Amino acid sequence: MRRFVRFLPSLLLTVSCYAANLTGNWVAETPLPDGTVRKAYFTLKQQDSHITGSIRVTQFYYTISASTGRSEEFTITGSMMDGTLERHVVYQGKLVGDELHLATRRRADAPLVEVIAHRAPEGEGAMPARVAPPALHRVPNNSLARTPAMGWNSWNKFKGDVDDAVIRQIADAIVSSGMKDAGYQYINIDDTWEASRDTNGNIVPNKKFPDMKALADYVHSKGLKLGIYSSPGPNTCAGYEGSYGHEEQDARTYAAWGIDYLKYDWCGARNIYTDEEMQAVYQKMGDALRVSGRPIVYSLCQYGRDDVWKWGPDVGGNSWRTTGDIRDAWDSMSKIGFGQNDLAQWAGPGHWNDPDMLEVGNGGMSDGEYKTHMSLWSILAAPLLAGNDVRNMSPSIHEILTNREVIAVDQDPQGKQGRRVWQSGDQEVWVRDLAGGAKAVGLFNRGEKDADIGVSWADLGFAGSSKELKVRDLWNHQNVEASGARYSTRVPAHGVVLLGIQE
Ligand code: GLA
Repeated sequence: MRRFVRFLPSLLLTVSCYAANLTGNWVAETPLPDGTVRKAYFTLKQQDSHITGSIRVTQFYYTISASTGRSEEFTITGSMMDGTLERHVVYQGKLVGDELHLATRRRADAPLVEVIAHRAPEGEGAMPARVAPPALHRVPNNSLARTPAMGWNSWNKFKGDVDDAVIRQIADAIVSSGMKDAGYQYINIDDTWEASRDTNGNIVPNKKFPDMKALADYVHSKGLKLGIYSSPGPNTCAGYEGSYGHEEQDARTYAAWGIDYLKYDWCGARNIYTDEEMQAVYQKMGDALRVSGRPIVYSLCQYGRDDVWKWGPDVGGNSWRTTGDIRDAWDSMSKIGFGQNDLAQWAGPGHWNDPDMLEVGNGGMSDGEYKTHMSLWSILAAPLLAGNDVRNMSPSIHEILTNREVIAVDQDPQGKQGRRVWQSGDQEVWVRDLAGGAKAVGLFNRGEKDADIGVSWADLGFAGSSKELKVRDLWNHQNVEASGARYSTRVPAHGVVLLGIQE
């Protein structure tokens, strides 16, 4: 008995340690207004004060690389490689009864977000087994997007607040505002439309999109086309269901719904494939779309990694993002737009560089800056996907988006992307060769003060005298008096003068 009494404290300690051990699979569930549930998984193994395992949150699968403390109070750091970038997430936690209380920050300066996790069956939420990417071959061109795609996309303005009603209203507004007549055609639903898969593995939209086929029929009845979004990974960027392992099935579903455009966003695929495998991974969906029985524009979105412009056309891509996400701010837009010079040679009819969607009208830039945005994108032969609330536009934004003379530059049938031909400090001149020997010339002032910018006709490649040149200001809709060998004009700060020139 005395021996047992001596043994009792250590027995109790063992029992309480055991009860308080974090080892196991935990899930934190956050219900979202669209009826889906965001699940974060914590697969933990605790040995004394050492915690190992993995963390899965939205699209990311992290391996726990460091820990401090024990179940009553601990921190775990998850790490993952994303191409050449190392990503980390840090959680503080404590076990409270049967609940795991966790808190993290999205950025170092962001507030703590708290979640509560419960025990989950072993294996639930684990990263799916790797499917080897296919051998490379050339996917035949689909003959679509002979000029850069024009339309609208939900992400920049609406993020997750997009639903069937919004899409219908946007389609109506694209028609009633005259944008359709100006060339805008694709109405593209971005991330957050997905729910899960049915028992046959078919992708099912969430409650924001009760009937995708009916929505496509509606958009088509307006003479417009409908686009959708997915990822080659198990999860999209916003953590929704991706197409991993269901590529052909999803392409068939899109075709059956009447989808005309797919934006395919790398995101969740980064956990499974390396950047070098991107081409094969994108080829898989290129093939799937081709055999789907419906012409579907294929828009690659992997932020310009792995020199996508060199292989984008080979996987059946009609365009590929060349950069990370644009923001509705001068520094973001101008850095992206003016940074595209070296990529000009890779664009052409059916396959375009995509410096991301338009921010015109979203409020973060002045009208003059939005004119620079629209002019630059047109010189770059970029897809023109409006990203604002077109149901409610000011007259000046409407004018910028529907300026047919500028749109004609973007949609020039020769499909040659423009280049910078001159730069001095904040001033730049860009030229795009147009069909029939015409040129579009953008005089850009990136500086903070108005400035005079001049060009000589000879430097632009026009041999004849100025008398034989027809020069037009594409924003003022006026012919420009061009006497002499040079032309010089005042360009506002952050502004542009866009000329169309014909011999
Ligand atoms: C990525 C893309 C964006 C948008 C979001 C949606 O960030 O680059 O354009 O599609 O995902 O989650």
